[in-house]
Amino acid sequence: MRPIFFFLPLLMLAQSPDDPEAGRKLYLGRCAHCHGQNGEGGRGVALNTGRFRHGGSPEELFRTIRQGIPNTEMPPAPRLPDHEISRMAAWVAQLGRQQAADEKVTGDAEIGAALYKKHACAQCHTLHGVGGFLGPDLTGIGPQRSVRHLRESMVNPGAEIPLDYRTVAITTAKGDRLTGIHLNEDEYSLQMRDPASRLRVFLKSELREVSYPRQSLMPAYALAKAEQDHLIAFLNAETVWRFDRLDSIGGHKTTVLGQPKVIDTPLGKAVEFDGVDDALFIENHPLAGAKTFTWEAIFRPDGGQFEQRWFHLSENGSENRMLYEIRVVGDKWYLDSFNQTGDQGKALMNREALHPLGQWHHVATVYDGKVFRNFVNGVEEGSAEIQFAPQGDGRSSVGVRINKVFYFKGAVHSARFTRRALTPSEFQKLE
Ligand code: HEC
Ligand code: HEC
Repeated sequence: MRPIFFFLPLLMLAQSPDDPEAGRKLYLGRCAHCHGQNGEGGRGVALNTGRFRHGGSPEELFRTIRQGIPNTEMPPAPRLPDHEISRMAAWVAQLGRQQAADEKVTGDAEIGAALYKKHACAQCHTLHGVGGFLGPDLTGIGPQRSVRHLRESMVNPGAEIPLDYRTVAITTAKGDRLTGIHLNEDEYSLQMRDPASRLRVFLKSELREVSYPRQSLMPAYALAKAEQDHLIAFLNAETVWRFDRLDSIGGHKTTVLGQPKVIDTPLGKAVEFDGVDDALFIENHPLAGAKTFTWEAIFRPDGGQFEQRWFHLSENGSENRMLYEIRVVGDKWYLDSFNQTGDQGKALMNREALHPLGQWHHVATVYDGKVFRNFVNGVEEGSAEIQFAPQGDGRSSVGVRINKVFYFKGAVHSARFTRRALTPSEFQKLE
């Protein structure tokens, strides 16, 4: 009997509710075929980037795994015991801390943009609201999928076809043939999306033949490795932060100061700051490593003190930073965009360019590798030639400067960070 007493605590230790090693085994059996052996992604999103759009806390991961994600391929697991889900959540959290070595995005997003155009990818894919519907919307896909999956998708599209994009081929009674995306089917009818992205409905009684080829409708592209890298950089070139919650922004954990509020606005949810002690700190510098960039934000200044620093990106361990500030004058405001790396620093500020308080505005700063510019509502307000080096990893603050001075009164709706210089026609729309 003795040995049992001896082994019991050890056994309990090995099987503790959040034991990641036990979680790894469960994960390999149930999840790896979609999310990859090491969470590198595939048919499912990458789980090793440290970014979880549905939340990365133990409770949130538990909920995602238990409930699945409605209207996606992520299935619920209603019958698994709680401790198995906890263990998988613990393993997934661990995956989030180990980005694979070969997952680095190395291409040039500008060249990727040109290749995307040259190969007419937009004929079938929507990106930022522009393009066709035959294939999946590629907006924001870069950070969600592994580099390996993106590469495979371009050169060998048939390898992993998402459920919603299976191919169907029909021959009508008259002998016409058509291939499209299989949307729906019942006893009497079949719906497909044809190659021109149109919805088509056929009565089965009018069809001579129906088959389900295991080929993708996407052509396999014979792209050189470097060209794949550039396209992948292009698809990774953009990060969007929606300010619709407080505990996580853009998939990054936040620290909340004071009591910022999530509010409803005509543009959707936004976070409101009181100008006294409200702020959000986000553990990420979204433009770290960017040689060229566009930083956009949609915000509503509501008055308050003269000088306010409402959005600050800061490199760790240095004074290098990118800042949006405003100055409030009566019932108007003007923009100050400041950027500093090393001994190169520049403030763009036009005191004459006044804008009304209490309304939503779009601001942008753009750096093309040579010239730094800023814009309010798509109109250029300043520019300067300057040599900025890419900044290293760091963090961000919203509602205040990173050292907690110059609090902001107003609301922030969203921000978009793009690793290339956009033209005003490519900016986010205020809607
Ligand atoms: C059939 C494929 C499939 C299987 C099996 C699957 N997933 Fe997923 N999973 C997905 C897809 C697709 C998404 C992304 C859904 C979306 O668009 O939000 C996802 C999302 C997730 C997320 C959220 C990621 C985020 O960014 O917040 C987690 C966590 C996750 N899966 C874990 C698991 C675990 C653990 C298992 C095994 C129990 C599993 N998945 C099984 C396809 C799958
Ligand atoms: C004729 C239409 C068509 C064209 C042109 C096309 N695609 Fe696709 N693409 C699809 C379809 C359909 C799918 C979904 C089926 C699949 O994964 O193969 C897809 C899937 C993808 C995926 C995977 C998406 C996911 O959710 O995993 C990526 C990435 C992609 N395409 C990129 C591109 C790029 C880059 C180009 C241009 C070089 C391009 N596509 C051109 C139709 C097209």
